[in-house]
Amino acid sequence: MIVKQHLIFILYSLCANVFKVAGTKSKAKGSQGQFPITQNVTVVEGGTANMTCRVDYNDNTSLQWSNPAQQTLFFGDKKALRDHRIELVRATSQELTIRISDVSLSDEGQYTCSLFTMPVKTTKAFLTVLGVPARPEITGFTKPAKERDVITLTCTTSGSKPAAHIRWFRNDKEVHGTREVNATGKSFTVRSSLKFEVDKQDDGVAYTCSVEHVSLSNPYLTTEVLEVHYAPQLEIRHSMIIPQEGQYFKLECVSNGNPIPEPVLWFKDGGELPDIERMIVEGRELTITTLNKTDNGTYRCEASNHLGTSSAEYTLFVYDPNALGQHGPDHALIGGVVAVVVFITLCLIIVLGRYLARHKGTYLTHEAKGAEDAPDADTAIINAEGNHVHAEEKKEYFI
Ligand SMILES: *[C@@H]1O[C@H](CO)[C@@H](O)[C@H](O)[C@H]1NC(C)=O
Ligand SMILES: *[C@@H]1O[C@H](CO)[C@@H](O)[C@H](O)[C@H]1NC(C)=O
Ligand SMILES: *[C@@H]1O[C@H](CO)[C@@H](O)[C@H](O)[C@H]1NC(C)=O
Ligand SMILES: *[C@@H]1O[C@H](CO)[C@@H](O)[C@H](O)[C@H]1NC(C)=O
Ligand SMILES: *[C@@H]1O[C@H](CO)[C@@H](O)[C@H](O)[C@H]1NC(C)=O
Ligand SMILES: *[C@@H]1O[C@H](CO)[C@@H](O)[C@H](O)[C@H]1NC(C)=O
Repeated sequence: MIVKQHLIFILYSLCANVFKVAGTKSKAKGSQGQFPITQNVTVVEGGTANMTCRVDYNDNTSLQWSNPAQQTLFFGDKKALRDHRIELVRATSQELTIRISDVSLSDEGQYTCSLFTMPVKTTKAFLTVLGVPARPEITGFTKPAKERDVITLTCTTSGSKPAAHIRWFRNDKEVHGTREVNATGKSFTVRSSLKFEVDKQDDGVAYTCSVEHVSLSNPYLTTEVLEVHYAPQLEIRHSMIIPQEGQYFKLECVSNGNPIPEPVLWFKDGGELPDIERMIVEGRELTITTLNKTDNGTYRCEASNHLGTSSAEYTLFVYDPNALGQHGPDHALIGGVVAVVVFITLCLIIVLGRYLARHKGTYLTHEAKGAEDAPDADTAIINAEGNHVHAEEKKEYFI
């Protein structure tokens, strides 16, 4: 009998235990069916990433974060990996948030949040780390370049992930270069080259390399100013068309070239300048204080830099002011020029006179008449002015 009772007790205990387990299981159902919720995170290298994992309903089942190498980072509020960059932000029954600071490219990968139900439910979150490109460097500058040299400018930026974009600008205008991308570890080295023949016009031109990347709010810019050396080019400018004896006369040797060709040398008729007081050389200028017909001849200025020598010539013919009258063609030319100038001046005076008269008066037809009837310009102006005064008087009278 005692044995029988004992057996019943054992059965009862067993049943109770079975029910107890069943009860616990049904209670756990709250978190049983659901998966933890996570989000992908993108962070710039060196920045801080928050990794959040949530469950809507939870009894005291633990949450866990592990890294791409399957190492546990946090199990609930318990830190599992020794890495001072990884800290706990929040651990509740419904949330486990951790923070990874000073993120490096090697932190990138798939992180896993696990909910320790039976069986374990996991969700992946991808941590994307952006590599910040280094400030671009321009190489290939032969400083200074020579005219007609062929140079290749190369702009390089390393450390970007994903690969950065390089753009080139010649002053402010975009020009297109080549593109080459190499992977170096987890990031990329991007290189772009511009090849061109150097022209005189490139002197002082700014070449800018611009690096654009998702991790940068403003592109990184590097600028180099091209210096181009070129052979001199000379030109002579003179102060008057018809140099006459006794006048002051000046020749200027205008030179360009880089480096600036200096000094400027002056020659007359293939030889030295005559050593006379009237002739003064000052830098690029040759001044003859009082022209004399012995001064006529061919003047030449010459200048060089290390790329070459250049010269320019001017032939001076000194006119005798007294003889000018007898010079047929010259006289005609001067006469013609004077006549044209006088004619234009007269026309201007007439047009201006009529214009002013019309716009100041009230009675247009009356005023204009004076000018039209006039035998010459002066009379026209006088007539026009007279009428103008008259017109004003009339105006007052009528008011
Ligand atoms: C990460 O979480 C902390 C604490 O909630 C917050 O102060 C910080 O702004 C978050 N950082 C990012 C990048 O979301
Ligand atoms: C969770 O655990 C705490 C203490 O560890 C306890 O007070 C609470 O009742 C538990 N909650 C559930 C739903 O089991
Ligand atoms: C998270 O990133 C992974 C890998 O890049 C991608 O396959 C997945 O669709 C992303 N999930 C979300 C919710 O954006
Ligand atoms: C890429 O790799 C090639 C071959 O190793 C090398 O010649 C080239 O200079 C590299 N380019 C860059 C941008 O690093
Ligand atoms: C020109 O030079 C000659 C000789 O040097 C001199 O006799 C003459 O008076 C000069 N003429 C003028 C206009 O200066
Ligand atoms: C110089 O000018 C005079 C007249 O002014 C002229 O007779 C002479 O031929 C000129 N000489 C040269 C070299 O031009």
